[in-house]
Amino acid sequence: MNTAVDSSDSAPAPNADAQGGAAPRKAGRRDWIPVNYDLRDTWFPVSHSRDVTQRPIRRIIHSQPYYLWRDDGKPVASEFRPDAPQSARARTSAFTGGSGFYPVVERYGYVWAWYGNPDHVDVLLLPHIPFLPLDGSLPGYTQRTVRFDATSALSVENLLDLTHADFLHAGTIGDGISESDVVEVEWNSETLTRTRIVTQKSVAPIMRWVGGVRAKYQDFRAVLHVHLRSNVCISYPRFRPGYDVPNLQPFLPVGRHRSRCDVTFNTTAAPVPLRYVMPRIAFVIQPQDNSVVRPQNERYFDPDERPDLHSRFDTPGTRYRFQMESLAQRQQRGDFSYGSDADPGRDISGLLGMNG
Ligand SMILES: [Fe+2]
Repeated sequence: MNTAVDSSDSAPAPNADAQGGAAPRKAGRRDWIPVNYDLRDTWFPVSHSRDVTQRPIRRIIHSQPYYLWRDDGKPVASEFRPDAPQSARARTSAFTGGSGFYPVVERYGYVWAWYGNPDHVDVLLLPHIPFLPLDGSLPGYTQRTVRFDATSALSVENLLDLTHADFLHAGTIGDGISESDVVEVEWNSETLTRTRIVTQKSVAPIMRWVGGVRAKYQDFRAVLHVHLRSNVCISYPRFRPGYDVPNLQPFLPVGRHRSRCDVTFNTTAAPVPLRYVMPRIAFVIQPQDNSVVRPQNERYFDPDERPDLHSRFDTPGTRYRFQMESLAQRQQRGDFSYGSDADPGRDISGLLGMNG
């Protein structure tokens, strides 16, 4: 396992060329262009389970259609609608090996579909999400859907930079005043984990209003575990005094200008009304985040603007860029395998700090 604490030890390599579609600007030596990532051979949580019924719905992963429905209760993911004529069924792609049907698994309250070569499918590559029941048996209030006018990788980078919350979300999560604030990052070729530990931080307003926390200050530890290929972000914030707010934020890469996030907040152990209010703050926080990522995403398509105003002192962000670039370059060379250092399905309860 590789680790770093508050140091900027490597610069991101320039992005490789785009694969098809409207061309964003050419990357300069120092520019990171997140809109080009199209990483394959991974599971995407394409939909909350409860949204998949007998009636077909459509999801998009990098312009590739995924029609989802249930047949006899079992989820089906296909390139065409169930009522599609024979002529449409003949137009199948390599993503389904010509069968028209994607590999599909239901777990953690999501329908997961494979994006890549179906010959490489492996259920052991599904992420481990220790705070979600395997059978997805959580009440509906824990689930929300938000959309961002930005590519997935930019949305993930925004989430990694947790310090943005101190000014962008100060009204709900709390300001930047604290005794100490340490950010650590560790990674392998498939995942990156950022931990932020803050002592004696101004108490989060939402914990005071609806969580019954009377203290003026609280300790805060937030772990974010990112699966690089799929943008699945497993987030475990812990407030003391206060509560754990484990949540899943999977950014579905709809396209270069859009990502979709079917969120789950498992607040079932928190007191009422925090239990019900916390999942809803996604609707407060999303416009705040979107107001930052939307104009930034547009810069990557404008030849007159310097696209990137990244700080090299943002260690998790810099590392994220470097790891994404390494994966993308490997895939461009035709190598879609998982390295021996990576085990996407490993137990991460300890890593998330759930046991301590
Ligand atoms: Fe945010």
